[in-house]
Amino acid sequence: MFRTKALLFGGAVLMAGSLASQARAEEISISCGALGIELQLCQDGVTRWSEKTGHTVKVVSTPNSATERLALYQQILAAGAGDIDVLQVDVIWPGILGEHLIDLSPYAGDAPKAHFQAIVDNNTVDGELKAMPWFTDAGVLFYRKDLLAKYGRAAPSTWAEMAETARIVQDGERAAGGDGLWGYVFQGRVYEGLTCNGLEWLDSYGAGTIVDAEGEVTVDNPAAVAALTEAAGWIGTISPQGVLNYTEEEARGVFQSGNAVFMRNWPYAWALAQSDDSPVKDKVGVVALPMGGEAGHHTGTLGGWNLAVSKYSAHPEIAADLVMFLTSAEEQKRRAIEGSYNPTVAALYEDAEVLAAVPFFGDLYDTFTNAVARPSRATGAKYNRVSAAFAETVHEVLNGKAEAAPALAELADTLAGLKRRGW
Ligand code: GLC
Repeated sequence: MFRTKALLFGGAVLMAGSLASQARAEEISISCGALGIELQLCQDGVTRWSEKTGHTVKVVSTPNSATERLALYQQILAAGAGDIDVLQVDVIWPGILGEHLIDLSPYAGDAPKAHFQAIVDNNTVDGELKAMPWFTDAGVLFYRKDLLAKYGRAAPSTWAEMAETARIVQDGERAAGGDGLWGYVFQGRVYEGLTCNGLEWLDSYGAGTIVDAEGEVTVDNPAAVAALTEAAGWIGTISPQGVLNYTEEEARGVFQSGNAVFMRNWPYAWALAQSDDSPVKDKVGVVALPMGGEAGHHTGTLGGWNLAVSKYSAHPEIAADLVMFLTSAEEQKRRAIEGSYNPTVAALYEDAEVLAAVPFFGDLYDTFTNAVARPSRATGAKYNRVSAAFAETVHEVLNGKAEAAPALAELADTLAGLKRRGW
């Protein structure tokens, strides 16, 4: 299914400048995400470490879809292959991949204390620190400041207001010849990103988190029906039909080229929207995602990535050293400023240079620290199946193949079946 070889060996080999230590120079590999400038940011950090230690690092790019990335890792790890020493792992994966990852505690010392405790806890499985926090994120709403100002609209606080504003601006601009403009883009493909969007809709309505912290299936409830029904109404009206096949980068492509009023995405999209060649540079605002009606609340799904060392690595100590370097405050500050990647080191949210580069890290601090977690801890190794079933159901409702109420009832049955077999 995946061109494993091409992916694994297509990465650049960074040669060390000088040998800083007497230890034998080794080569290790790291897998990094490649959304926007992400791969370059990873390579830059790796180069610094190489110069310091003398070790060389092969930087391996991975598929953009978290779902595909997980499948690739599972394939490599299940084979016990040491192809990748350092893995960039999603905040929802410690339970799924933990058995293949070493305990980083002996290498980490006091370092975890500087990071958000909730993420350190998330990454700790049976007392072992399976990954060091690298960056966190939460879904946020990007909007076109210039277009909202032109139509006298404020940033929306409810989904209904968002849809109304989207409609007004879309209709107005199209009437004036702006044919390509859409109201709202998000991640609607069947994959982990749709689970994140769907959870935000539910949580914004107070409809729970699919499965609760105790492992009970809660997804079939009237507020969840209302949330999904509202979202289905956007397709073909304020959102293009094609959104049903969008991941993060497709949504960003439409928004950044000036063809959407609103976009749901992760903070990384900010640095790219603000880049010199971006058509929407200085025209973008960022707020918390809308509430599900006046009784709802603002929310965002907790995302983020961590660095782990494979149990099959031939050089675990060297790999752990790279992890500790890349997750340090200094590296996180650089990545925050250059790429708007949210630090996991709490103190950096008070750093003037970070806040100047990404003002909403300060304004939306509560959104990031109170983000809603997907039920990965409660469902453990079964999380991926829970998420896939949820995303498929949400997709069917969005594309009009199913009504929300029966679809959620059926999903609840499916999840109860998974639960019976244990999670
Ligand atoms: C972002 C998030 C990650 C999530 C993914 C879904 O990369 O950081 O946690 O799983 O998006 O597409």
